[in-house]
Amino acid sequence: MKFPGSHFPPRLSPAALTALSFLLVLTFAVFTIRHRPHRPRDPSRFHSHFISSANNATLSAYLRSLTRHPHLAGTPPSLSTARLVLSHFQSLGLETRSARFRSVLSYPLHSSLSLHFPNGSAFSLPLAEPGSSGVVLPYHAYSPSGSVSSKTVFANYGREEDYEALIKLGVDVTGSIVVVRKGGDLSRGGVVRVAERAGAAAVLIYAEEDKTVRSGVERGTVMSGVGDPVSPGWAVEADNGGEVLGLEDTAVLARFPRIPSLPLSLECAEMILRQLGGASVPAEWKGSIRSTVRGVGAGPVVLNLTYQGEKKMATIQNIFAVIRGLEEPDRYVLLGNHRDAWTYGAVDPNSGTTALLDIAHRYSHMVRKGWSPRRTIILCSWDAEEFGMIGSTEWVEQNLVNLGSKAVAYLNVDCAVQGPGFFAGATPQLDDLLTEVTKKVKDPDFAEATVYEMWTKANKAINIQRLSGVDSDFAPFLQHAGVPSIDIYYGRDFPVYHTAYDTYEWMAKRGDPTFQRHVAAAGIWGLLALRLADDLVLPFNYTSYANELQGYVDVLSNLLSGSISLYPLFSSVQALHSVAKDVQTEARDLKEQETERELQALRMRGLNDRLMLAERGFLDADGLQGRRWFKHLVYGPHGDYRSKLGFFPGVADAMMSAESRGAKERGNEEGNALIQHEIWRASRAIQRAANALRGDVFSQ
Ligand SMILES: *[C@@H]1O[C@H](CO)[C@@H](O)[C@H](O)[C@H]1NC(C)=O
Ligand SMILES: *[C@@H]1O[C@H](CO)[C@@H](O)[C@H](O)[C@H]1NC(C)=O
Ligand SMILES: *[C@@H]1O[C@H](CO)[C@@H](O)[C@H](O)[C@H]1NC(C)=O
Repeated sequence: MKFPGSHFPPRLSPAALTALSFLLVLTFAVFTIRHRPHRPRDPSRFHSHFISSANNATLSAYLRSLTRHPHLAGTPPSLSTARLVLSHFQSLGLETRSARFRSVLSYPLHSSLSLHFPNGSAFSLPLAEPGSSGVVLPYHAYSPSGSVSSKTVFANYGREEDYEALIKLGVDVTGSIVVVRKGGDLSRGGVVRVAERAGAAAVLIYAEEDKTVRSGVERGTVMSGVGDPVSPGWAVEADNGGEVLGLEDTAVLARFPRIPSLPLSLECAEMILRQLGGASVPAEWKGSIRSTVRGVGAGPVVLNLTYQGEKKMATIQNIFAVIRGLEEPDRYVLLGNHRDAWTYGAVDPNSGTTALLDIAHRYSHMVRKGWSPRRTIILCSWDAEEFGMIGSTEWVEQNLVNLGSKAVAYLNVDCAVQGPGFFAGATPQLDDLLTEVTKKVKDPDFAEATVYEMWTKANKAINIQRLSGVDSDFAPFLQHAGVPSIDIYYGRDFPVYHTAYDTYEWMAKRGDPTFQRHVAAAGIWGLLALRLADDLVLPFNYTSYANELQGYVDVLSNLLSGSISLYPLFSSVQALHSVAKDVQTEARDLKEQETERELQALRMRGLNDRLMLAERGFLDADGLQGRRWFKHLVYGPHGDYRSKLGFFPGVADAMMSAESRGAKERGNEEGNALIQHEIWRASRAIQRAANALRGDVFSQ
């Protein structure tokens, strides 16, 4: 600092004097605040304000602007939807970020389908919804291109047992085009793979759930696994590049089916099925197919299917808004929803995006009124979910260590509003929080009732699903990174799923005419995040987790023969139970304790870290056998759709594999050894979670 000599000592002007006294007062105030006795800030006033400030008209307006045009990932219109989300966050004064990646996406170039009669006449079938120009042609992303001209066979749900039934009927599917109705336990890609193994040359899949949209065609991906196929396990940033595998690499090829497939409308499927002759359709298959269908196939007609598609590198873009935590900026509570849609995406996914924009709006208002969260809140808008959770997966892979050490929870919303009725999935330590939050939100369809009341009334109890499926962006967070997760939605099985009819008009007419379900979904989602961001002690209950796991062990003990020991599971679940109980006591004591502020803060931080990290214990570096990317041994997809277990995917796979070995010599012995090994692995994972929750490297 330099003093101007001639004016020293300075003569102070009245303005300078005022400024000086102001500074003195300020210094004193800061000193007093820093040294006042510890009284945690009470954010509940803000939380109540969050709930009461919802407005259905705002939500309706957001949905309208998000769904003005189709916005398929990697296409130019999707950029303007990304900009819309970004500028919304910016206009609220929130810190915004974006993460751009390169990944392989897949688009249709041309497709055709025609019926050829023995008399030489041909009939071309409609593959797209009438009047749906501007919307991408119905297709299966990552289907190979191909042209097949062949006889046609109806294969029911396309499961292995359906092909076995066809063999019994004397129908050979080799080289034929199979028509499959959606609705078995198989995924879309699974249907194509089973058909491929059965010898089929191509697959046509139709959905028959709702007769009101007979011309709707369900687009979707048939790629297996999660994330960009040419960067498995790592991310390629758009601006910096990175290693990518070739499209002909065996690891990449393994993710795509080898035979072409296309989706059909119910209307179009019926035109084909009506032409089939041959053996009559088994009684069990008739369920919902029309009486006009006489035979399963080998009729006189020939079907000619052509699909031309391209797989190409595209840029995808995730958008974020960040509200930094005041006390614990390095702990993250993440709310995520994808933005890309097959068509207009009113339900899937922009009912969720609408809720995200609204939460951003209400949070920013709270910030202006003086609220700061204790922990950092990140609102995430993912790209390319429809192709296989690519946007979220690349980001999780890129940030694995930071998320692994700092992410408290991931709250997912995809098709937030599909119709009436609340549904939720969660990792079990979050069950209590989910329950508490639904008690604070008004039910959208029954005045005077809470979401909780109607939810429990509909199910006669709390019914929380578990997150073993890979059908939305929670998959990378939970199944790869071990972050406790929640997924919520209103309604299920909506009829316009992935069709050109998933529009604002459908939502306003059928899905949510008063937009009150949007209000409820946003309320639950936003309040869950507020509790996770603001509670002094994280609202995690591991006793629920231990109880849930105990239930799984009981199920296994009924299914498995006595020669397999479940003792390792019993004992690890018991260990988790006992630590969970101690931790509950510890949390209660800590909240009541009158200790010095800094010491208490440190202790809470330590406890919260254990609560956060316990879920990571379920991860296993080797992952699931044959699908190593999936690291979570309690929740993850099983490899065989015939398995009915929704937990312990490794054990589930071993049980299915044992079943198929059973018939062979020494098959039982080998099969049991596989199951026992997977039981040991699951037990060790549970023990790791218990150790992480206890937090000391030495057991007492
Ligand atoms: C050929 O056969 C189909 C199916 O039986 C029939 O609809 C069509 O009219 C016939 N076309 C000619 C030219 O006979
Ligand atoms: C099948 O359709 C394709 C494309 O329209 C056409 O090129 C091909 O000749 C047709 N094949 C038969 C056997 O009709
Ligand atoms: C908002 O909700 C009220 C009450 O349910 C309803 O009358 C109104 O039409 C709704 N507004 C919109 C835009 O849906």
